Amino acid sequence: MAEQHGHRDGSAGVGGQIQVGILTCSDRGARGERADVSGPTLHNLVVDRLGAKVGQYKVVPDDRMAIETTLVEWVDEGHLDLIFTTGGTGFSPRDVTPEATRAVVDREAPALTQAMLFESLRITPYAMLTRATAGIRKRSLIVNLPGNPKALTENFTAVAEVLPHAVDIVRGLDTHAGGHGGHGAASGAPATSGADTPRDGSVREGHRHGAGPEGVPASATASAPAAGAGGPREGGMARNVGGPPC
Ligand code: MTE
Repeated sequence: MAEQHGHRDGSAGVGGQIQVGILTCSDRGARGERADVSGPTLHNLVVDRLGAKVGQYKVVPDDRMAIETTLVEWVDEGHLDLIFTTGGTGFSPRDVTPEATRAVVDREAPALTQAMLFESLRITPYAMLTRATAGIRKRSLIVNLPGNPKALTENFTAVAEVLPHAVDIVRGLDTHAGGHGGHGAASGAPATSGADTPRDGSVREGHRHGAGPEGVPASATASAPAAGAGGPREGGMARNVGGPPC
């Protein structure tokens, strides 16, 4: 079992346990021609890395209306904090997940997908074949992830540590009320990790507990096919020093 970080009690900062929806967008998955591997992979990541609860899970075809209808229903009636879609973000004519997501969000959150792309490009140049988006509808954050289990794990890992704080802000909570001690500790970035983190953003050995190369859990990398050319490069995002500044 993957090691948990930060939110061991299943709480998200000051706002309580995060309620998550997982929407797999796949024609073949919806027709039952292919088992959904992405959904269960994401389920494990959400539970192990965020201490969150999966309240909704569904497989829909690559159909804008089906995706939009589900997202609206989950946000407006299900009151989920965080919804991940998986699949349908690429260049294929049937890939419409970003369009469906954009149609239902009130505000986009482009830096989340930029951060995922930034980290992913260190792993494979094929990461530039995503059109994923992220945004906020009412009190829910919606994030597109790719469909391949290895790719979605890499993208999830890139943003996981900031998601509990992001959810608290989207919930409208005063994240300054109780100080910042509870944040910045999820997904392989212990709260203490910033003390000797270089300002050039490089991550020293030993800061990605319970994880394989580039923070991907060993269980995910072991079974996932290699993606793209070349291995991880030097550098990367700066690790948090202390709590979130916002
Ligand atoms: N991002 C990471 N980190 N690793 C990957 O292997 N694959 C890319 C990209 N993002 C990839 C990645 C590829 S090949 C595609 S086609 C797009 O995600 C879109 O994937 P999707 O159509 O399954 O959503």
